[in-house]
Amino acid sequence: MDRIRITGGRTLHGTIPISGAKNATLPLMIASLLTEETLILDNVPRLADVGLLQRILGNHGVDVMVGGKRPGESAYDGQTLHISAARIIDTTAPYELVSRMRASFWVIAPLVARMGEAKVSLPGGCAIGTRPVDLLIMALERLGAEIEIDGGYVMARARNGLKGGEIVFPRVTVGGTHTAIMAAALAQGTTVIENAAHEPEIKDVADCLNRMGARIGGAGTSRIVIEGVSKLGGARHRVIPDRIETGTYAMAVAMTGGDVLLENGRADLLQAGLDVIAQAGAEISATNAGIRVTRNGAGIAPVEVVTAPFPGFPTDLQAQLMALMTRARGTSRITETIFENRFMHVQELVRLGAHIQLDGERATIEGVRRLQGAPVMATDLRASVSLVIAALAAEGETMVNRVYHLDRGFERLEDKLAACGAAIERISG
Ligand code: UD1
Repeated sequence: MDRIRITGGRTLHGTIPISGAKNATLPLMIASLLTEETLILDNVPRLADVGLLQRILGNHGVDVMVGGKRPGESAYDGQTLHISAARIIDTTAPYELVSRMRASFWVIAPLVARMGEAKVSLPGGCAIGTRPVDLLIMALERLGAEIEIDGGYVMARARNGLKGGEIVFPRVTVGGTHTAIMAAALAQGTTVIENAAHEPEIKDVADCLNRMGARIGGAGTSRIVIEGVSKLGGARHRVIPDRIETGTYAMAVAMTGGDVLLENGRADLLQAGLDVIAQAGAEISATNAGIRVTRNGAGIAPVEVVTAPFPGFPTDLQAQLMALMTRARGTSRITETIFENRFMHVQELVRLGAHIQLDGERATIEGVRRLQGAPVMATDLRASVSLVIAALAAEGETMVNRVYHLDRGFERLEDKLAACGAAIERISG
């Protein structure tokens, strides 16, 4: 199993290219199941989760062709995927695959919408607390799917097709909103989704679906209206930049000090996150090329933050912010409202010398003058990267174990940081 070794204390200077968004790529790939024609996706990040979803789609009979590098492209340019679900040969998504990546459960929506049936394993437990799918199932039922749960599988049937309906989510759910949109795109009649997620990835997927011939209005707001169509066609779509990767590197620079251009980063996708980083003392400026983050001499100021659905501060940056606050001059408070039990990074940050107290959903962080390198272990994607941020500022050497979590969501993290002067290397095996 690969590990990453970091020797802290260097400032970061240079350019970090921001990859395409993982959380847009996954539902976009799944949306390919809605059409017999080819969907071409540009700016797809090279991530373990993308590879795994390719395998999952392959199991349904989908062909995925990865375009080669074109002349003049750098190793950081995203991949182009040509995805063709001309013939779906299997409507079952088995436990062995779904259990490895929660978002793969979302295949249930396009499968039942196009094929009239789907059998998808329940995703099961997850390192960040219980993450149920009851609202995804509710959405499909509202569109007329008959649902049966048996032997750990959800069976969805709609022999005569789905019918438009009203879906009111009692809480904001990204996966629920993606599922509802994909199912409604091929349903007969009009669907209205109330209290829909606003996340930019929802709008990106809706834009792509509209290019494929869907009639979706209001994506990016809390009320989405979809006029079902009988068929969708192919399209070409460029994935938006990853706002979580952008925010993560912005926090790394805020932590170490320095001056870095986050190339292709888009401030409009991450305003709440950037506001907090600025409050912590970094200077942020949006340029045509991306987002420039600098922090000189001055230390890190403490902040109080509550995670919330978009446009609020994203839960996916909570662990990274906590790492940054371990070195703040004073006391910070971070409240996690989206996922229960999303604090696995706390114990590992404490091993590096952080002072953090947990009280239910609230963490209180007393900034310390120094962190000290140590062996640490990451338990999920965002928790792993928070340990990298802490290690960049810790004295001595930190070994981050089990980096396969990082590879699920961060493309070539060690190369991107090393190019800006960090002492970071991957140790294989
Ligand atoms: C997506 C993101 C993930 C991000 C999360 C919240 C992807 C691939 N993943 O995950 O990175 O952290 O949004 O921004 O895009 N819930 C229910 N019942 C359901 C579904 C959700 O109670 O049926 C709850 C969840 O437990 C959680 C909250 O709703 O407390 C939000 O979850 P949701 O937005 O659905 O997260 P995901 O789509 O799984």
